[in-house]
Amino acid sequence: MREIYVIGSASIDLVVKSDRRPLKGETILGESFFMTTGGKGSNQAVSASRLGGKVKMVGAVGADDFGQQILANFRENSVDVSNVESVTHVSSGTAHITLSEDDNSIIVVPGANFAVTTHQVAQVLSEAAEDAIVVLQNEIPKDVILFTIDKCYELGLTTIYNPAPFIEIELDYLKKVTYFTPNETEVKELFGEDYEEVIQDYPNKMIVTLGDKGAVFYNGQLVNVPGIKADVVDTTGAGDTFNGALAVALSEGMALDDAILFANKAASISVTGLGAQGGMPYRAVMTDV
Ligand code: RIB
Repeated sequence: MREIYVIGSASIDLVVKSDRRPLKGETILGESFFMTTGGKGSNQAVSASRLGGKVKMVGAVGADDFGQQILANFRENSVDVSNVESVTHVSSGTAHITLSEDDNSIIVVPGANFAVTTHQVAQVLSEAAEDAIVVLQNEIPKDVILFTIDKCYELGLTTIYNPAPFIEIELDYLKKVTYFTPNETEVKELFGEDYEEVIQDYPNKMIVTLGDKGAVFYNGQLVNVPGIKADVVDTTGAGDTFNGALAVALSEGMALDDAILFANKAASISVTGLGAQGGMPYRAVMTDV
């Protein structure tokens, strides 16, 4: 089976549920609070592993209780952690999430996620098999992201780059990845235009996620792979579930449109549970795709 390397963040999500968000300068009473494992990299790794992928995480946690929880969660989900460093100079990454008004808003404090180094990535990639799939997002230092894209391109590895959260990046890097998976907002931030204006410049490469409307890519014509309606409890991590599932589907040799349909289905199931990883499906429930 092709191995999947997820190079990225692993954090603890601190989640407040509230009817509404406070106005500037206002204090309000929230409804409830919980802590759970998150971080885009961790979410993508757990998604891929639950769906049957052979997953190695590459990242960093603090030498603290949160770091221990993050590592324990990887192990429970059969994600290999031999390339997750434990660092002492900074605490584990956290994400501060407000769930309210049918959507979430998030402030990420990178912490140990910004201790991931190019040296660490170089070491891991030097040992990766030729057919490995590398999944990458934007919650680790930018120099590490650019290094990873360059190195994977040089080695001919398949890459899935999820450009979230948005950072400024030279568009040349998007040409070097095998696939990139922005949502509509990230397309606007990256290109200053809607996806319809740019998607044909990235055939079979740019996959735009559209929430419950599915995803689109261009293969000579615009292909809309439909989404699946679900009873939404929490959309946090839906995009990450999509990326992890896409990696698994591609690792199994599915055609791109089938792989996207598989990923759409996984993402739609993920929103039915609370927390980024709470609703992520296991392979057993994906039988009809
Ligand atoms: O994509 C969802 C994730 O974004 C959350 O788990 C949070 O950690 C933030 O990184």
